[in-house]
Amino acid sequence: MQREILVLYASTGGNTAWVAQQIHRTLAEQGLQSTLLPVERCTQQQLESAGVLLWGSPTYGHGHTDLRCARLLQQVQGAQLEGKPCAVFGLGDTKYDADYHIESATILEDFITSHGGHLLTSALRIDKSPLPHLPAIEDWARTVARALGE
Ligand SMILES: Cc1cc2nc3c(=O)[nH]c(=O)nc-3n(C[C@H](O)[C@H](O)[C@H](O)COP(=O)(O)O)c2cc1C
Repeated sequence: MQREILVLYASTGGNTAWVAQQIHRTLAEQGLQSTLLPVERCTQQQLESAGVLLWGSPTYGHGHTDLRCARLLQQVQGAQLEGKPCAVFGLGDTKYDADYHIESATILEDFITSHGGHLLTSALRIDKSPLPHLPAIEDWARTVARALGE
């Protein structure tokens, strides 16, 4: 039976939501069902019960995640992700703060590994508008699908 894949995302301006949708669509093209969920609707129980967790956030405010994502990270400090296959996608733009470029990806990867999750592949990092990055987004989702099949 296929493990439930949760595509969890935070998005203030819509870019990360769009990336999450492209990941969801590409996984479906690979025969993998996934569930799209905005962070504000996610509970610790959903995070823990997901078979696979793909988590994305933009970067805001000098190297933080989106505010709703930061709130969830606070709420699920006690989450148990032991051995859970996970991967992260982060968005950002050097024009805001080059020192914290796409720091959201680093924050999410740190959270996952410090809670026992297992990273299937390196983070997808999207600079500026995600539209020109569509081929890289699709490649990344296919890499995740392959890793899940191994
Ligand atoms: C006020 C503001 C602050 C930002 N700060 C950062 C930052 O510190 N580092 C970074 O890489 N990108 C930063 N960004 C860029 C966003 O992460 C980027 O535009 C992203 O695509 C927004 O995603 P969303 O549409 O899903 O909210 C900032 C954008 C805004 C508007």
